[in-house]
Amino acid sequence: MRRRTALVAFIMLMLATAVALPHSGATGVVKQRMDMMEAIAGRMKAVAAMIRGKRPFDANDASAAAEAIAGHTRKLPQMFPEGSVGGSSEASAHIWVNWEQFVKLSRRMQMKALSLAETAAATADGEDLRPQFRELGQTCIACHEEFRENR
Ligand code: HEC
Repeated sequence: MRRRTALVAFIMLMLATAVALPHSGATGVVKQRMDMMEAIAGRMKAVAAMIRGKRPFDANDASAAAEAIAGHTRKLPQMFPEGSVGGSSEASAHIWVNWEQFVKLSRRMQMKALSLAETAAATADGEDLRPQFRELGQTCIACHEEFRENR
């Protein structure tokens, strides 16, 4: 029980550090994808609050949040046109060296978000979302570890 709580907390901590980084001056597609990632993180936080009982569980809200994440993710690869690095972007140039892997991680994220949405729509208990939430969070972490530079 404690361990499962720790995992959700850990994922949220990763996300909190992510948004704490400054990215003033970003423009164009870099700004758009930063905004998209932040919107995704906001939805993750809303779902996490329900899982952790900090907010009453609402199946509609939780599944809508997960579906919104999947919707954003559909557009994720196209927000990384080749060579769009520099400025305040934390994107690694490695993305375009290993593009297949980048796209694969986006697809996996989309799939996990959809399965989170399904689970959310079919339960009355936020606890039931833990496994899918964790799997979704692991795709964020996997991609950030490989393709995002923390400056
Ligand atoms: C397929 C790869 C990939 C996946 C999956 C992914 N991200 Fe990202 N994320 C990135 C990259 C690359 C950046 C850096 C973009 C830049 O700075 O140009 C980033 C940046 C971010 C940022 C910082 C945005 C900013 O304002 O600078 C947040 C927050 C974030 N991601 C949240 C998430 C969350 C939450 C998930 C999972 C639900 C997720 N990401 C999944 C690749 C990914």
